[in-house]
Amino acid sequence: MKFARRMSSVHRSFIREILKAAVDPGIISFAGGLPNPRFFPVRELEEATRKVLSSDGAAALQYATTEGFPPLREMIAARYAARGTRVRPEEVLILNGSQQGLDLVAKVFVDPGDVVLVESPSYLAALQCFGFFEPRFLPLFMDSDGVCVRELTAALRDAEPKLFYAIPNFQNPSGISYSRERRREAARLLAGSSTVLVEDDPYGEIRFMGEDLPSIRACISEAGSTDSSVLLGTFSKIVSPGVRLGWIVAGTEIMERLVVAKQAADLHSNELTQRIVHRYLSDNDVNAHIQRIRDAYKRQRDLMVSAVKSLFPPDVSCTEPEGGMFLWMTLPQAVSAMTFFERSLERKVTFVPGAAFFTSGGGENTLRLNFSNCDEAMIDEGMTRLARVYSQMPGA
Ligand SMILES: Cc1ncc(COP(=O)(O)O)c(C=O)c1O
Repeated sequence: MKFARRMSSVHRSFIREILKAAVDPGIISFAGGLPNPRFFPVRELEEATRKVLSSDGAAALQYATTEGFPPLREMIAARYAARGTRVRPEEVLILNGSQQGLDLVAKVFVDPGDVVLVESPSYLAALQCFGFFEPRFLPLFMDSDGVCVRELTAALRDAEPKLFYAIPNFQNPSGISYSRERRREAARLLAGSSTVLVEDDPYGEIRFMGEDLPSIRACISEAGSTDSSVLLGTFSKIVSPGVRLGWIVAGTEIMERLVVAKQAADLHSNELTQRIVHRYLSDNDVNAHIQRIRDAYKRQRDLMVSAVKSLFPPDVSCTEPEGGMFLWMTLPQAVSAMTFFERSLERKVTFVPGAAFFTSGGGENTLRLNFSNCDEAMIDEGMTRLARVYSQMPGA
C-alpha cells in the first residue's frame, strides 16, 4: 500500500507504548500524564447527566453549532475574567480536548518546511501532531525561568517561524514555568513579530504554590493586539480527561479559519458532554473541587521531591514545580536514563526517559516523573524501588 508521505515523519508515541507496559496492576507507573481518578466527580456528573437529559434531552442529542454550546463558552470566558485575562465568549471555540486545538492550529498555519519554534524539551503529542504537517522544528533552550530570550529573539529575527508553541505553566514534561518577567519579555518580542503564539495551558489552574501569573496572551494584550496568538485550555485536569472537552481562544481572523477546519474535522464537539459539563459547573463549587486537587497534588509532589533529595546522590537533581503534574529529573551525563528505565521496569516501576521529548537529540540523562496519578503510599514505594535500582546503575 502507498501511504501518504507525511506518515513517514510521524511515529507511534513512545509514551503510549510505555503505558501499554504499565497495564500490569503490579507496576507503579510514574510514566503517564493521568490525573488522580480519586477526584473525578462521578456522582456529580451522573446527576448533571440526568438533569440534562430530562430537561434538554432532545437538544443535547441533536447536531449543534461548530463553535460550541453558548452557555459553556460564556462560562469559560467568565472564568478567564475572574483570573484577570479578558476573553469574549465569541473568542472561545469548544474542542474535543485541547489536543484537537493543536491539530487545527497546525492545519490552519503550517505548510511543509515551515519553521515551528518549540521549547526544548516539549510536549510529545504536540510534536507528533505538528509532525503530520511536515514542519522544520527549531528547538529553543529553556532555563528555570522559561524559554531563553536570546534564542527566541534570534529565531524570530532570522528563521521566519510560522508558530511558537509554548507551555508557560508547569510545562509537560519539565515542570518549568515562565517567570513574570519572562512572560512579559516573550510577549514584547511576539507582539512585534508575525509569528503566531500557540500558548498551551492545561495545568494553569493546578497551581499549588506561589502567585498566579498572567498568560502570555494577557501580557501581549497589554503590549498591543492579541490577533496573532491563540490560547488553549481544557477540562481534562480539573474535571475529567474522559469527557474530552477543551477549548481554544482566538481573535476573529484566526477563529474563522479554525471553525472551518473544525467543521471539516468533526462538525462540532460532543453536545451532550458540553451540556453535562456546563450543568456540572453551574451546580457545583468547582473552585473548591480544584482546591482539593491542588492540595493532594502538592502533598504528592512534596513527597516525590523529598524522595529525590533524600534517596538519590547529590549529583541527581529535579525541578520543583509550583503546580501541574510532572517533575523532571537530571542524572549525571554518564548515566543513561533509557538503561535506568529498562532496569526499573524489571522492578515494576516506570517513568518516561527524557530523550523522547527533544526534537533534535539530547536529554539522554533526563527523565519525566508524574506525581499526580499515584497516591502517597505508591509514590513512597515507587521512589524507594527507583533509588535501589539507581544505586546499581553504571556511572551512578
Ligand atoms: C501540554 C499539553 N497540552 C495538551 C494536552 C492535551 O490535553 P486534552 O486532554 O485537553 O486534549 C496535554 C495532556 O496531557 C498536555 O500535557
